Amino acid sequence: MFVSEDLAVNSQGHLTIGGADTVELAEKYGTPLYVMDEDLIRKNLRRFHDSMNKYYNGMGEVHFASKAFSCMEMCRIVASEGDGLDAVSIGELYTAVKAGFPMEKVGFHGNNKTDAELRYCLEVGVGHIIVDNIPELRRLEAIAKDMGKKPLIMFRIKPGIDAHTHKAVLTGQIDSKFGFALETGEAFEAVKEAVSCENVEFYGVHCHIGSQIFDIEPFEAAAKTMLGFIAKVKNELGYEIKGLNLGGGFGIKYLTEHDPKPFEEFIERVSAVVREQCAQLGIAQPRMYIEPGRSIVGPAGITLYTVGARKVIPDIRTYISIDGGMPDNPRYILYESEYEAVVANKAGEPRDEKVTIAGRCCESGDLIGENMALQHAESGDILAVLATGAYNFSMAMTYNRLQRPAVVFVRDGESRIGVKRESLDDIIRNDV
Ligand code: LLP
Repeated sequence: MFVSEDLAVNSQGHLTIGGADTVELAEKYGTPLYVMDEDLIRKNLRRFHDSMNKYYNGMGEVHFASKAFSCMEMCRIVASEGDGLDAVSIGELYTAVKAGFPMEKVGFHGNNKTDAELRYCLEVGVGHIIVDNIPELRRLEAIAKDMGKKPLIMFRIKPGIDAHTHKAVLTGQIDSKFGFALETGEAFEAVKEAVSCENVEFYGVHCHIGSQIFDIEPFEAAAKTMLGFIAKVKNELGYEIKGLNLGGGFGIKYLTEHDPKPFEEFIERVSAVVREQCAQLGIAQPRMYIEPGRSIVGPAGITLYTVGARKVIPDIRTYISIDGGMPDNPRYILYESEYEAVVANKAGEPRDEKVTIAGRCCESGDLIGENMALQHAESGDILAVLATGAYNFSMAMTYNRLQRPAVVFVRDGESRIGVKRESLDDIIRNDV
Protein backbone atom coordinates (compact mmCIF):
# COMPACT_ATOMS: atom_id res chain seq x y z
CA MET A 1 0.00 0.00 0.00
CA PHE A 2 2.84 2.42 0.85
CA VAL A 3 6.24 2.85 -0.78
CA SER A 4 7.96 1.59 2.33
CA GLU A 5 7.41 -1.73 4.06
CA ASP A 6 7.48 -0.33 7.61
CA LEU A 7 4.47 1.94 7.15
CA ALA A 8 0.95 0.85 8.09
CA VAL A 9 -2.40 2.21 9.23
CA ASN A 10 -3.59 1.54 12.80
CA SER A 11 -7.13 1.09 14.16
CA GLN A 12 -7.52 4.87 14.53
CA GLY A 13 -6.77 5.32 10.85
CA HIS A 14 -3.37 6.88 11.66
CA LEU A 15 -0.19 6.22 9.73
CA THR A 16 2.37 4.24 11.71
CA ILE A 17 6.10 3.87 11.19
CA GLY A 18 8.02 1.11 12.93
CA GLY A 19 4.92 0.52 15.05
CA ALA A 20 4.73 4.15 16.27
CA ASP A 21 1.67 6.34 15.64
CA THR A 22 2.82 9.31 13.55
CA VAL A 23 0.06 11.60 14.85
CA GLU A 24 1.29 10.95 18.40
CA LEU A 25 4.88 11.57 17.31
CA ALA A 26 3.87 14.91 15.82
CA GLU A 27 2.09 15.85 19.05
CA LYS A 28 4.98 14.77 21.24
CA TYR A 29 7.90 16.25 19.30
CA GLY A 30 6.27 18.96 17.17
CA THR A 31 6.58 19.45 13.42
CA PRO A 32 8.34 19.49 11.02
CA LEU A 33 9.86 16.25 12.22
CA TYR A 34 12.11 13.66 10.64
CA VAL A 35 11.26 10.15 11.79
CA MET A 36 13.67 7.27 11.16
CA ASP A 37 12.81 3.61 11.60
CA GLU A 38 15.82 2.04 13.28
CA ASP A 39 14.83 -1.55 12.53
CA LEU A 40 14.52 -0.87 8.84
CA ILE A 41 17.93 0.83 8.77
CA ARG A 42 19.42 -2.21 10.49
CA LYS A 43 17.59 -4.58 8.18
CA ASN A 44 18.87 -2.74 5.10
CA LEU A 45 22.46 -2.80 6.37
CA ARG A 46 22.15 -6.53 7.04
CA ARG A 47 20.69 -7.22 3.62
CA PHE A 48 23.79 -5.68 2.09
CA HIS A 49 26.40 -7.25 4.34
CA ASP A 50 24.70 -10.66 4.39
CA SER A 51 24.64 -10.75 0.61
CA MET A 52 28.29 -9.64 0.44
CA ASN A 53 29.07 -12.58 2.72
CA LYS A 54 26.93 -14.95 0.71
CA TYR A 55 27.93 -13.98 -2.81
CA TYR A 56 31.45 -12.66 -2.29
CA ASN A 57 32.94 -15.23 0.09
CA GLY A 58 32.91 -12.87 3.04
CA MET A 59 35.51 -10.71 1.27
CA GLY A 60 33.31 -7.65 1.17
CA GLU A 61 32.64 -4.61 3.31
CA VAL A 62 29.67 -2.27 3.46
CA HIS A 63 30.52 1.37 4.12
CA PHE A 64 27.38 3.39 4.72
CA ALA A 65 27.62 6.70 2.80
CA SER A 66 27.13 9.11 5.65
CA LYS A 67 26.40 12.01 3.29
CA ALA A 68 22.93 10.46 2.94
CA PHE A 69 22.23 10.85 6.66
CA SER A 70 24.83 11.68 9.25
CA CYS A 71 24.39 12.09 12.98
CA MET A 72 26.03 10.44 15.97
CA GLU A 73 23.17 8.03 16.59
CA MET A 74 23.34 6.82 12.98
CA CYS A 75 27.08 6.22 13.38
CA ARG A 76 26.36 4.16 16.51
CA ILE A 77 23.78 2.08 14.63
CA VAL A 78 26.19 1.41 11.75
CA ALA A 79 28.99 0.52 14.20
CA SER A 80 26.77 -1.88 16.10
CA GLU A 81 25.97 -3.70 12.85
CA GLY A 82 29.71 -4.07 12.23
CA ASP A 83 29.67 -2.01 9.04
CA GLY A 84 31.93 0.85 7.94
CA LEU A 85 31.38 4.45 6.86
CA ASP A 86 32.13 6.58 3.84
CA ALA A 87 32.81 10.14 4.98
CA VAL A 88 33.40 13.16 2.77
CA SER A 89 34.19 16.03 5.10
CA ILE A 90 35.86 16.72 8.41
CA GLY A 91 32.36 17.29 9.80
CA GLU A 92 31.26 13.75 8.92
CA LEU A 93 34.54 12.40 10.32
CA TYR A 94 34.14 14.38 13.53
CA THR A 95 30.58 13.07 13.95
CA ALA A 96 31.90 9.51 13.65
CA VAL A 97 34.81 10.13 16.04
CA LYS A 98 32.50 11.66 18.64
CA ALA A 99 30.14 8.69 18.31
CA GLY A 100 33.06 6.37 19.08
CA PHE A 101 33.04 4.87 15.57
CA PRO A 102 35.94 2.49 14.77
CA MET A 103 37.78 4.83 12.40
CA GLU A 104 39.75 2.04 10.72
CA LYS A 105 36.43 1.16 9.06
CA VAL A 106 36.09 4.60 7.45
CA GLY A 107 36.93 5.58 3.89
CA PHE A 108 37.50 9.29 3.34
CA HIS A 109 36.40 10.95 0.10
CA GLY A 110 36.35 14.39 -1.47
CA ASN A 111 37.39 16.04 -4.71
CA ASN A 112 39.03 18.94 -2.90
CA LYS A 113 40.20 17.80 0.52
CA THR A 114 41.88 20.37 2.70
CA ASP A 115 45.21 19.85 4.46
CA ALA A 116 43.33 20.05 7.75
CA GLU A 117 41.10 17.17 6.62
CA LEU A 118 44.04 15.03 5.50
CA ARG A 119 45.85 15.65 8.79
CA TYR A 120 42.70 14.82 10.73
CA CYS A 121 42.36 11.53 8.81
CA LEU A 122 45.86 10.52 9.88
CA GLU A 123 45.35 11.72 13.42
CA VAL A 124 42.17 9.68 13.98
CA GLY A 125 43.36 6.64 12.00
CA VAL A 126 40.96 6.58 9.06
CA GLY A 127 41.07 3.19 7.27
CA HIS A 128 41.77 4.51 3.82
CA ILE A 129 41.76 7.79 1.97
CA ILE A 130 40.30 7.84 -1.53
CA VAL A 131 42.65 10.18 -3.39
CA ASP A 132 41.05 12.26 -6.13
CA ASN A 133 43.92 13.97 -7.95
CA ILE A 134 47.72 14.27 -8.19
CA PRO A 135 48.15 17.49 -6.19
CA GLU A 136 46.21 15.80 -3.39
CA LEU A 137 48.44 12.71 -3.60
CA ARG A 138 51.51 14.92 -3.26
CA ARG A 139 50.05 16.90 -0.36
CA LEU A 140 49.11 13.67 1.41
CA GLU A 141 52.57 12.21 0.84
CA ALA A 142 54.13 15.30 2.44
CA ILE A 143 51.67 15.37 5.35
CA ALA A 144 52.13 11.63 6.00
CA LYS A 145 55.89 12.08 6.03
CA ASP A 146 55.60 15.01 8.40
CA MET A 147 53.34 13.04 10.76
CA GLY A 148 55.35 9.82 10.51
CA LYS A 149 52.36 7.83 9.17
CA LYS A 150 51.75 5.63 6.13
CA PRO A 151 48.06 5.74 5.20
CA LEU A 152 46.37 3.29 2.88
CA ILE A 153 45.02 5.02 -0.20
CA MET A 154 42.64 4.23 -3.02
CA PHE A 155 42.23 6.16 -6.25
CA ARG A 156 38.91 7.59 -7.34
CA ILE A 157 38.53 6.47 -10.96
CA LYS A 158 36.06 7.66 -13.59
CA PRO A 159 35.27 4.42 -15.39
CA GLY A 160 33.42 6.16 -18.24
CA ILE A 161 30.08 4.47 -17.54
CA ASP A 162 26.80 6.18 -18.33
CA ALA A 163 24.18 5.26 -15.74
CA HIS A 164 20.67 6.47 -16.49
CA THR A 165 19.91 8.89 -13.72
CA HIS A 166 19.57 12.63 -13.08
CA LYS A 167 22.56 14.56 -14.46
CA ALA A 168 23.23 16.23 -11.10
CA VAL A 169 23.96 12.85 -9.52
CA LEU A 170 25.91 11.29 -12.40
CA THR A 171 29.57 10.89 -11.54
CA GLY A 172 31.25 8.12 -13.52
CA GLN A 173 31.63 9.85 -16.88
CA ILE A 174 34.75 11.61 -18.14
CA ASP A 175 33.24 15.09 -17.78
CA SER A 176 33.05 14.92 -13.99
CA LYS A 177 34.88 16.82 -11.29
CA PHE A 178 35.59 13.57 -9.45
CA GLY A 179 38.69 11.47 -9.85
CA PHE A 180 41.08 10.24 -12.53
CA ALA A 181 39.97 9.42 -16.08
CA LEU A 182 40.71 5.99 -17.48
CA GLU A 183 40.34 6.71 -21.19
CA THR A 184 43.02 9.38 -21.29
CA GLY A 185 45.64 7.33 -19.46
CA GLU A 186 45.50 9.80 -16.56
CA ALA A 187 44.61 7.09 -14.02
CA PHE A 188 47.45 4.81 -15.10
CA GLU A 189 50.05 7.59 -14.93
CA ALA A 190 48.78 8.49 -11.48
CA VAL A 191 49.08 4.88 -10.29
CA LYS A 192 52.70 4.84 -11.49
CA GLU A 193 53.40 7.79 -9.25
CA ALA A 194 51.43 6.39 -6.29
CA VAL A 195 53.21 3.03 -6.22
CA SER A 196 56.53 4.78 -5.93
CA CYS A 197 55.43 6.98 -3.00
CA GLU A 198 57.23 6.20 0.23
CA ASN A 199 54.72 7.56 2.70
CA VAL A 200 51.43 6.26 1.36
CA GLU A 201 50.49 2.69 0.50
CA PHE A 202 48.55 2.30 -2.70
CA TYR A 203 45.84 -0.17 -1.79
CA GLY A 204 42.91 0.06 -4.14
CA VAL A 205 40.70 1.68 -6.74
CA HIS A 206 37.28 3.22 -6.32
CA CYS A 207 34.46 4.26 -8.60
CA HIS A 208 30.98 5.60 -8.02
CA ILE A 209 28.86 5.87 -11.15
CA GLY A 210 25.91 7.86 -9.81
CA SER A 211 22.89 7.69 -7.56
CA GLN A 212 19.30 6.39 -7.69
CA ILE A 213 20.20 3.86 -10.39
CA PHE A 214 17.72 1.06 -11.09
CA ASP A 215 19.70 -0.99 -13.63
CA ILE A 216 22.30 -3.52 -12.59
CA GLU A 217 24.10 -3.44 -15.95
CA PRO A 218 26.02 -0.16 -15.34
CA PHE A 219 27.37 -1.62 -12.08
CA GLU A 220 28.44 -4.78 -13.89
CA ALA A 221 30.07 -2.71 -16.61
CA ALA A 222 31.87 -0.56 -14.04
CA ALA A 223 33.16 -3.64 -12.19
CA LYS A 224 34.42 -5.11 -15.47
CA THR A 225 36.20 -1.90 -16.44
CA MET A 226 37.81 -1.55 -13.03
CA LEU A 227 39.07 -5.13 -13.09
CA GLY A 228 40.52 -4.55 -16.53
CA PHE A 229 42.43 -1.66 -15.01
CA ILE A 230 43.59 -3.75 -12.04
CA ALA A 231 44.90 -6.34 -14.51
CA LYS A 232 46.69 -3.67 -16.55
CA VAL A 233 48.42 -2.37 -13.42
CA LYS A 234 49.46 -5.92 -12.51
CA ASN A 235 50.72 -6.76 -15.98
CA GLU A 236 52.51 -3.52 -16.74
CA LEU A 237 53.71 -2.42 -13.31
CA GLY A 238 53.84 -5.76 -11.50
CA TYR A 239 51.72 -4.22 -8.75
CA GLU A 240 48.80 -6.05 -7.18
CA ILE A 241 45.81 -3.89 -6.29
CA LYS A 242 44.06 -5.36 -3.26
CA GLY A 243 40.89 -3.29 -2.83
CA LEU A 244 38.02 -2.55 -5.19
CA ASN A 245 35.37 -0.08 -4.08
CA LEU A 246 32.32 0.13 -6.32
CA GLY A 247 30.61 3.04 -4.54
CA GLY A 248 26.89 3.36 -3.94
CA GLY A 249 23.95 4.40 -6.08
CA PHE A 250 21.35 1.65 -5.66
CA GLY A 251 17.90 3.05 -6.49
CA ILE A 252 14.96 3.05 -4.09
CA LYS A 253 11.20 3.22 -4.37
CA TYR A 254 9.96 6.79 -4.05
CA LEU A 255 6.76 6.19 -6.00
CA THR A 256 4.41 3.22 -6.06
CA GLU A 257 5.32 2.54 -9.68
CA HIS A 258 9.06 2.36 -8.96
CA ASP A 259 10.26 -1.21 -8.97
CA PRO A 260 13.89 -1.36 -7.85
CA LYS A 261 15.57 -4.74 -7.94
CA PRO A 262 16.39 -6.24 -4.55
CA PHE A 263 19.86 -5.24 -3.29
CA GLU A 264 20.72 -8.92 -3.07
CA GLU A 265 20.43 -9.20 -6.83
CA PHE A 266 22.86 -6.29 -7.36
CA ILE A 267 25.40 -7.90 -5.05
CA GLU A 268 24.94 -11.37 -6.54
CA ARG A 269 25.40 -10.21 -10.12
CA VAL A 270 28.25 -7.82 -9.47
CA SER A 271 30.07 -10.41 -7.34
CA ALA A 272 29.72 -12.91 -10.18
CA VAL A 273 31.25 -10.44 -12.65
CA VAL A 274 34.14 -9.72 -10.30
CA ARG A 275 34.89 -13.41 -9.74
CA GLU A 276 34.65 -14.27 -13.44
CA GLN A 277 36.84 -11.38 -14.47
CA CYS A 278 39.47 -12.21 -11.87
CA ALA A 279 39.63 -15.78 -13.12
CA GLN A 280 39.77 -14.67 -16.75
CA LEU A 281 42.39 -12.00 -16.21
CA GLY A 282 44.49 -14.06 -13.82
CA ILE A 283 44.29 -11.62 -10.93
CA ALA A 284 43.63 -12.25 -7.25
CA GLN A 285 40.14 -11.49 -6.01
CA PRO A 286 40.25 -8.01 -4.47
CA ARG A 287 38.53 -7.11 -1.22
CA MET A 288 35.27 -5.51 -2.36
CA TYR A 289 33.70 -2.44 -0.81
CA ILE A 290 30.33 -0.87 -1.48
CA GLU A 291 29.03 2.47 -0.22
CA PRO A 292 25.23 2.46 -0.17
CA GLY A 293 23.63 5.58 1.30
CA ARG A 294 20.13 6.18 -0.03
CA SER A 295 19.20 2.51 -0.06
CA ILE A 296 19.98 2.14 3.66
CA VAL A 297 18.19 5.19 5.04
CA GLY A 298 15.90 6.53 2.29
CA PRO A 299 13.00 4.12 2.75
CA ALA A 300 13.42 4.20 6.54
CA GLY A 301 12.56 7.89 6.93
CA ILE A 302 9.47 10.06 6.70
CA THR A 303 8.91 13.75 7.41
CA LEU A 304 5.89 14.94 9.36
CA TYR A 305 4.43 18.42 8.89
CA THR A 306 1.38 20.29 10.08
CA VAL A 307 -0.93 21.49 7.35
CA GLY A 308 -1.66 25.23 7.34
CA ALA A 309 -3.46 27.09 4.60
CA ARG A 310 -5.42 25.30 1.89
CA LYS A 311 -5.65 27.48 -1.19
CA VAL A 312 -7.89 26.41 -4.05
CA ILE A 313 -7.25 28.26 -7.32
CA PRO A 314 -10.22 27.22 -9.46
CA ASP A 315 -9.31 25.33 -12.63
CA ILE A 316 -5.63 25.72 -11.83
CA ARG A 317 -4.54 23.89 -8.70
CA THR A 318 -4.93 23.42 -4.98
CA TYR A 319 -2.06 24.40 -2.74
CA ILE A 320 -1.64 22.68 0.61
CA SER A 321 0.82 24.68 2.69
CA ILE A 322 2.95 23.00 5.33
CA ASP A 323 5.18 24.23 8.15
CA GLY A 324 8.38 23.06 6.41
CA GLY A 325 9.48 22.83 2.78
CA MET A 326 12.70 23.31 0.84
CA PRO A 327 14.82 23.99 3.94
CA ASP A 328 14.14 20.48 5.26
CA ASN A 329 13.72 18.89 1.82
CA PRO A 330 15.50 20.73 -1.00
CA ARG A 331 15.24 17.78 -3.40
CA TYR A 332 12.25 19.01 -5.41
CA ILE A 333 13.73 22.41 -6.08
CA LEU A 334 17.10 20.82 -6.92
CA TYR A 335 16.14 17.73 -8.89
CA GLU A 336 12.35 17.79 -9.26
CA SER A 337 12.42 14.66 -7.15
CA GLU A 338 9.06 13.02 -6.67
CA TYR A 339 7.59 11.78 -3.41
CA GLU A 340 4.35 10.29 -2.16
CA ALA A 341 2.51 11.88 0.75
CA VAL A 342 -0.25 10.82 3.12
CA VAL A 343 -2.45 12.75 5.54
CA ALA A 344 -1.25 10.87 8.60
CA ASN A 345 -4.47 11.29 10.60
CA LYS A 346 -6.60 10.17 7.61
CA ALA A 347 -4.27 7.47 6.33
CA GLY A 348 -7.04 4.93 5.87
CA GLU A 349 -9.01 7.21 3.53
CA PRO A 350 -8.51 7.24 -0.23
CA ARG A 351 -6.06 9.72 -1.71
CA ASP A 352 -8.54 11.15 -4.15
CA GLU A 353 -7.39 14.76 -4.51
CA LYS A 354 -4.51 16.07 -6.60
CA VAL A 355 -2.62 18.85 -4.88
CA THR A 356 0.57 20.87 -4.84
CA ILE A 357 2.33 20.75 -1.50
CA ALA A 358 4.00 24.08 -0.79
CA GLY A 359 6.58 25.02 1.79
CA ARG A 360 6.69 28.22 3.80
CA CYS A 361 9.68 29.97 2.25
CA CYS A 362 9.51 33.20 0.29
CA GLU A 363 10.17 31.34 -2.92
CA SER A 364 7.63 30.07 -5.43
CA GLY A 365 9.74 27.02 -6.21
CA ASP A 366 9.54 25.95 -2.58
CA LEU A 367 7.43 22.85 -3.18
CA ILE A 368 7.51 19.26 -2.02
CA GLY A 369 5.73 18.21 -5.17
CA GLU A 370 3.00 18.95 -7.70
CA ASN A 371 0.05 16.91 -8.80
CA MET A 372 0.36 14.66 -5.76
CA ALA A 373 -2.43 12.30 -4.77
CA LEU A 374 -3.62 13.08 -1.26
CA GLN A 375 -6.54 12.67 1.10
CA HIS A 376 -8.59 15.85 1.61
CA ALA A 377 -6.14 17.91 3.70
CA GLU A 378 -7.19 20.74 5.96
CA SER A 379 -5.52 23.08 8.38
CA GLY A 380 -4.29 21.20 11.45
CA ASP A 381 -3.92 17.84 9.70
CA ILE A 382 -0.58 16.04 9.91
CA LEU A 383 1.07 15.42 6.58
CA ALA A 384 3.62 12.65 6.12
CA VAL A 385 6.01 12.76 3.17
CA LEU A 386 7.40 9.28 2.58
CA ALA A 387 10.87 7.93 1.86
CA THR A 388 12.65 11.07 3.01
CA GLY A 389 15.35 9.32 5.03
CA ALA A 390 18.18 10.06 2.58
CA TYR A 391 19.51 13.48 1.56
CA ASN A 392 16.78 15.39 3.40
CA PHE A 393 18.11 15.92 6.93
CA SER A 394 21.66 15.87 5.55
CA MET A 395 20.88 18.60 2.99
CA ALA A 396 18.70 20.70 5.28
CA MET A 397 19.36 24.41 5.56
CA THR A 398 18.11 27.39 7.51
CA TYR A 399 16.87 29.61 4.65
CA ASN A 400 14.56 32.34 5.95
CA ARG A 401 16.14 31.57 9.32
CA LEU A 402 13.89 28.57 9.78
CA GLN A 403 15.08 26.15 12.43
CA ARG A 404 16.11 22.70 11.30
CA PRO A 405 13.70 19.97 12.51
CA ALA A 406 14.45 17.32 15.10
CA VAL A 407 15.24 13.73 14.14
CA VAL A 408 13.42 11.02 16.05
CA PHE A 409 14.29 7.32 15.87
CA VAL A 410 11.52 4.78 16.36
CA ARG A 411 11.87 1.11 17.26
CA ASP A 412 9.20 -1.37 18.36
CA GLY A 413 6.70 1.45 18.73
CA GLU A 414 9.01 3.46 21.05
CA SER A 415 10.59 6.76 20.05
CA ARG A 416 13.64 8.74 21.09
CA ILE A 417 15.34 11.95 19.96
CA GLY A 418 18.41 11.47 17.74
CA VAL A 419 18.97 15.14 16.90
CA LYS A 420 17.29 17.97 18.77
CA ARG A 421 15.22 20.60 17.00
CA GLU A 422 17.21 23.79 16.49
CA SER A 423 16.27 26.57 18.84
CA LEU A 424 16.05 30.25 18.04
CA ASP A 425 19.31 30.66 19.93
CA ASP A 426 20.89 28.06 17.61
CA ILE A 427 19.88 30.31 14.73
CA ILE A 428 21.85 33.27 16.11
CA ARG A 429 24.61 31.20 17.78
CA ASN A 430 27.41 32.47 15.55
CA ASP A 431 26.08 35.98 15.01
CA VAL A 432 28.18 38.72 16.59
N1 LLP B 1 29.92 6.86 -2.63
C1 LLP B 1 30.23 8.04 -3.19
C2 LLP B 1 31.61 8.30 -3.55
C3 LLP B 1 29.24 8.99 -3.44
O1 LLP B 1 29.56 10.13 -4.01
C4 LLP B 1 27.90 8.71 -3.08
C5 LLP B 1 26.84 9.69 -3.31
C6 LLP B 1 27.61 7.48 -2.47
C7 LLP B 1 28.64 6.57 -2.28
C8 LLP B 1 26.23 7.09 -2.03
O2 LLP B 1 25.32 7.02 -3.08
P1 LLP B 1 23.82 6.47 -2.81
O3 LLP B 1 23.93 5.03 -2.46
O4 LLP B 1 23.27 7.28 -1.70
O5 LLP B 1 23.13 6.73 -4.10
N2 LLP B 1 21.97 14.70 -3.06
C9 LLP B 1 21.59 13.77 -4.11
C10 LLP B 1 22.45 12.52 -4.10
C11 LLP B 1 23.92 12.81 -4.24
C12 LLP B 1 24.76 11.57 -4.17
C13 LLP B 1 26.17 11.94 -3.94
N3 LLP B 1 27.07 10.83 -3.81
C14 LLP B 1 20.12 13.41 -3.95
O6 LLP B 1 19.48 13.93 -3.04
O7 LLP B 1 19.58 12.66 -4.74
